[in-house]
Amino acid sequence: MLVDGPVVLRPYRRSDAAAWSEIRRANRVWLAPWESHLPGTWDEVNSPAAFRYVHADQRRSARTGDGMPFAVCLREDGQERLVGHLNIGSIVRRAFCSGYVGYWVDSRVAGRGVIPTAVALAVDHAFGPGGLHRVEVNIRPENRPSRRVVEKLGFREEAYHVRYMHIDGAWRDHIGYAMTNEEVAAEGGLLARWHRVRDRRG
Ligand SMILES: CC(C)(COP(=O)(O)OP(=O)(O)OC[C@H]1O[C@@H](n2cnc3c(N)ncnc32)[C@H](O)[C@@H]1OP(=O)(O)O)[C@@H](O)C(=O)NCCC(=O)NCCS
Repeated sequence: MLVDGPVVLRPYRRSDAAAWSEIRRANRVWLAPWESHLPGTWDEVNSPAAFRYVHADQRRSARTGDGMPFAVCLREDGQERLVGHLNIGSIVRRAFCSGYVGYWVDSRVAGRGVIPTAVALAVDHAFGPGGLHRVEVNIRPENRPSRRVVEKLGFREEAYHVRYMHIDGAWRDHIGYAMTNEEVAAEGGLLARWHRVRDRRG
């Protein structure tokens, strides 16, 4: 479990199905422009039953080492609830030791720095015990909130991928951001950097 203040990253559980489905279904308009998804209606691919397959896939990727999936939770008023998702996926080891970060948060808790904190926790974990050297985040140019997340954390903008991924009915361009271990090691890690950035912003 990875914790910073009220933000908790933990493995998914089978019992997350109902909460996961409620959030995903309530956030269709919020999430659909930014995600690729399997064939089927939004409600079908985000049903409690569909979570069984999502969860099995997450467990498989964690077991084989090609993913680091986390349930993003908030601890408030003595309660911990699921509010989002973060995965470092498509991990390639050998001479790459790199992976891609993906995330989303419930619109009802957006704007509170939950995802930058989650990314910082997960990247420090990936660069430490996870054994990665590099992480990338690919974001549609139109997605200002997500670009703000990586900008605040100091990711490097290093690529423009034309018609990169099929999302919301079309092939969409993405901006590529990246970070390597060396870039944050001297600062005590990404979470330490994020704390300093957040403190300066007030
Ligand atoms: C991108 C996303 C994960 C950011 O998570 P978050 O925890 O809200 O991140 P932050 O609190 O740092 O907010 C990031 C930016 O969102 C914007 N924002 C703030 N409050 C907001 C709100 N209520 N609604 C929409 N955007 C808001 C601001 O521009 C903020 O940047 P700022 O801190 O410079 O003002 C979230 O907006 C989301 O889930 N979006 C839909 C899915 C998605 O885009 N996933 C990523 C695909 S690459």
